[in-house]
Amino acid sequence: MVGSLRTGIIDTKNYTFYKEYSDIISGGAWQPSECVARQRVAIVIPFRDRQKHLEQLQYNLIPILKRQQLNFRFFVVEQNGNHTFNKGRIMNAAFLEARKFDDFDCFVFHDVDMMPEDDRNMYTCTDAARHMSPAVDKFLYVLPYTQLVGGVLSMKPDVFIAVNGYSNLYWGWGAEDDDMAARLQLKQIGIVRPPLTIGRYRMIKHSEREINPVKVRLYLLKTVKDRFMKDGLNSLEYKTVFVKLTPLYTHIMVDIGEPPRDANKITSLMAKK
Ligand code: BGC
Repeated sequence: MVGSLRTGIIDTKNYTFYKEYSDIISGGAWQPSECVARQRVAIVIPFRDRQKHLEQLQYNLIPILKRQQLNFRFFVVEQNGNHTFNKGRIMNAAFLEARKFDDFDCFVFHDVDMMPEDDRNMYTCTDAARHMSPAVDKFLYVLPYTQLVGGVLSMKPDVFIAVNGYSNLYWGWGAEDDDMAARLQLKQIGIVRPPLTIGRYRMIKHSEREINPVKVRLYLLKTVKDRFMKDGLNSLEYKTVFVKLTPLYTHIMVDIGEPPRDANKITSLMAKK
């Protein structure tokens, strides 16, 4: 069964009119009634100011997850306040919070702007990490570089814990995913991918987030080996502002602190750890 890309942007007021949403349990959970689900999957979506994208993603993804007979729950995780975005921190926090809901077999970390184009791309986990989005329209449906794991990435909880989750040190756009790839490599955990004909996504255009300076990114990427076992899940400090069940997702708001005053002073970034 190929492709089910639905391009409509829906109005939240109309949620109840869509058949596929009528049986979604508050908090954005669902499981097949006619069989035992293949896996219990937490879909984690780091989020800031992209409501339309979120609606469009769920509109596209929910029918696919149902056809794949998965037991799933959506977690939309947001960073409290207006400080520079730190995707790694909020994904780590979402992992810890999600595990209070269920003993998930699989975590899928999903950018909100990535629209799946092919039903055959399974939202499940293998023993290796699975980079599910190797073929993105923005990159002309080819993998731009072999270590890329950004976009959509699935990992078993044991794998996520083994690599100590994401780094907490990347403030602003870029490279927290490259840091994850390095962690996986250091732990000798493989990265598998669906074929380019299946791992296809359309990326919705949006204005760029504040960028993490290249100098900082490069410095951090050079130091992954010495840092990763002490920078990540085990060093995350956060406060849960709220966890709310909305009709289509579990909404997690977390306070993760502020970036260092001068992000260019990369040595001071490390001195704190
Ligand atoms: C960044 C990654 C990003 C990739 C694709 C790289 O330069 O470091 O974070 O996912 O580009 O956009």
